[in-house]
Amino acid sequence: MNAIDKLEQTVEREERFQLATYKKMPVVAERGEGVWVFTSSGDRYLDLYGGHAVAATGHCHPSVVAAIREQSAKLLFYSNLVYSEARAIAAEKLVSIAPASLTKAFFCNSGTEANENAMRMARMATGREHIITFSGGFHGRTADAISATFLGKYREIGKPNVPGHLRAEFGDIESVRAVADESVAAIMLEPIQSMAGVKTAEPSFFRALRGLCDERGIVLIYDEVQTGIGRTGEWFFAGSKASDGVVPDVITLAKALGSGIPVGACLVTDAIASQIKEHDLGTTFGGGMIAMAAVTATLEAIENDGMLANVREVEEYLRRRLKEVEQVVNVHGRGFLLGLEFADKAKPIHEALLERKIITGTSSDPKVLRLLPPLCLRKEEVDIFVEGLSSGFAD
Ligand SMILES: Cc1ncc(COP(=O)(O)O)c(C=O)c1O
Repeated sequence: MNAIDKLEQTVEREERFQLATYKKMPVVAERGEGVWVFTSSGDRYLDLYGGHAVAATGHCHPSVVAAIREQSAKLLFYSNLVYSEARAIAAEKLVSIAPASLTKAFFCNSGTEANENAMRMARMATGREHIITFSGGFHGRTADAISATFLGKYREIGKPNVPGHLRAEFGDIESVRAVADESVAAIMLEPIQSMAGVKTAEPSFFRALRGLCDERGIVLIYDEVQTGIGRTGEWFFAGSKASDGVVPDVITLAKALGSGIPVGACLVTDAIASQIKEHDLGTTFGGGMIAMAAVTATLEAIENDGMLANVREVEEYLRRRLKEVEQVVNVHGRGFLLGLEFADKAKPIHEALLERKIITGTSSDPKVLRLLPPLCLRKEEVDIFVEGLSSGFAD
């Protein structure tokens, strides 16, 4: 069978046997290397989307692959009922890069699960029920997380919703004050709202949230499933200048954390940790050895390859080059979580780029194209993107 027939067979098979929950790009991904994805027919795509912000270390980073390979030859899995060197090292490493007040990690398997556990911990720690989340925020698709998601139609999809969710307006502290009474356990937010179209808030908003939480005994949760693990050019949004130095009581993580091996985590303060007892939380697969080896290798790869500094430098270059493209009216976000705003719809631009073998993402804002590339993206590859973008407008 020739390569084209094989690609067509894969598409036909997948459409026949997999539930069609996503509108897929016409790409059959076979192999990845750094910022490139290859198909079996030999095409290569510049990946500025990273498989939904997952491939932070680039596709198949050699040291991550080696660590997974090495661990899988030793022990694929054992649960939290035993100790594991892989888990001990991953937990220590993750806590070591976190803001100092976040001293313990809870491992799970995905972003939605991290958020469910964060909300549960906040309820346990405060003895209260309500959770405030924001217009435009996205927190996942399991029952409690989807009920906390005020973006678009998600709460509708997730009906019947879990009770106890309150809504405030992102960036508007008065709207938070209005609902933050003594029934509120937590305020949870994406510090940069990615799916909403990469929406940001002023640093003073985060400072005001911290003040309100301290004043009223509310747990502050940053959902850093997208912003965490280096994407903004710093390990976390928490503690950054953009956060006015504010550190929440809980950070939730997933996506980039395992370079593609499913893993999620909550980082918590001593005060929260002291309220959580044996059997309060649990998971079969969370903290499994393969995932833990992937976490340690991911964090080390980001460190050893100087990816945080790379993100900051290449972001600046990308912003500079985008000034040459008059159709880009604004660039939102930080680091490698960027929303390019156009005067008109972004979808045709996404498609034109795909024809030029460049993968980008859309968002729920029809005018915003999202870039979530691997943290190892270089200036040469930015040039390929900007040329692809400009030539798309020349057609
Ligand atoms: C900010 C944010 N939180 C939570 C989630 C849910 O993560 P997962 O799909 O791993 O459950 C996502 C996924 O896109 C996300 O972007």
